[in-house]
Amino acid sequence: MHSSDDLSTRAELAQPGSPEDRLYQRIDRTRLPRHVAVIMDGNGRWARGRGMPRVKGHRAGVESVRETVEVCARLGIEYLTLYAFSVENWQRPRHEVWTLMNLIREFLRTEVASLKDNGIRLQILGRRDRLDASLMAEIDRAVEETAAGERMTLSVALNYSGRCEIVDACRKIVSDWAAGESVEIDEETVGRYLYTAGQPDPDLLIRTSGEMRISNFLLWQLAYAEIWVTDTQWPDFRRRHLFAAISEFQQRNRRFGLVNDAANEQIASEHGQ
Ligand code: FPP
Repeated sequence: MHSSDDLSTRAELAQPGSPEDRLYQRIDRTRLPRHVAVIMDGNGRWARGRGMPRVKGHRAGVESVRETVEVCARLGIEYLTLYAFSVENWQRPRHEVWTLMNLIREFLRTEVASLKDNGIRLQILGRRDRLDASLMAEIDRAVEETAAGERMTLSVALNYSGRCEIVDACRKIVSDWAAGESVEIDEETVGRYLYTAGQPDPDLLIRTSGEMRISNFLLWQLAYAEIWVTDTQWPDFRRRHLFAAISEFQQRNRRFGLVNDAANEQIASEHGQ
């Protein structure tokens, strides 16, 4: 993205008459998911399938990150959360870990100005331990520089684990309680102590590369998310896939454990209708 103009017209989202435009036109812009979360999987297989080292797949995946961020912001998605590096990923070969960290660093260096210009607030979800101090400093700077963004919140899950997040929340609740704060243990309180405090839960989880699992991602927050899985590998993920996911999301019947009428009222009230 290069400017802060209103970027949300149809022509800017899809070339009129193109196959992706037909997908785009199926989307009802008044009923978008507020929060889209993505498990970006398949980089290694994408590279291997082309006879290249796995890290080339991660590098190619950055272009998909850029396009997804841009298109979500143009569409009017309020929250986009990307799973970039899990706590378990430290067990990958050193060179792969190093490459992933460098890609994050490069992304910050090349994209922060554009995020800021386009009103996109960056947040990082995950534990701060184990991350290189100089990377952490760059992250902190990027988060601070984009903090005023009101158009979309882009959360990058880095050194993230859903179970660790819940453990961290429990520890913090107990330590606040021990320090004399009155803490009522209920769902609202737990939500406030998670890394995602203040964000609505994801409505839609997209997973690329075909696997049917959530891999320790946003375990608490995904309770009622609609899950959309594509066989497409992350480096090939483009706006047409996003449009297809959103359009299918809009055809699903979300009941939140209720019967239809009550669920519709709940959705309408969440959307202020
Ligand atoms: C999973 O593919 C992907 C990852 C572990 C890393 C995703 C990171 C990026 C796309 C690049 C940097 C991100 C940002 C936000 C700038 P995999 O390696 O598990 O693939 P495989 O299942 O085919 O082995």
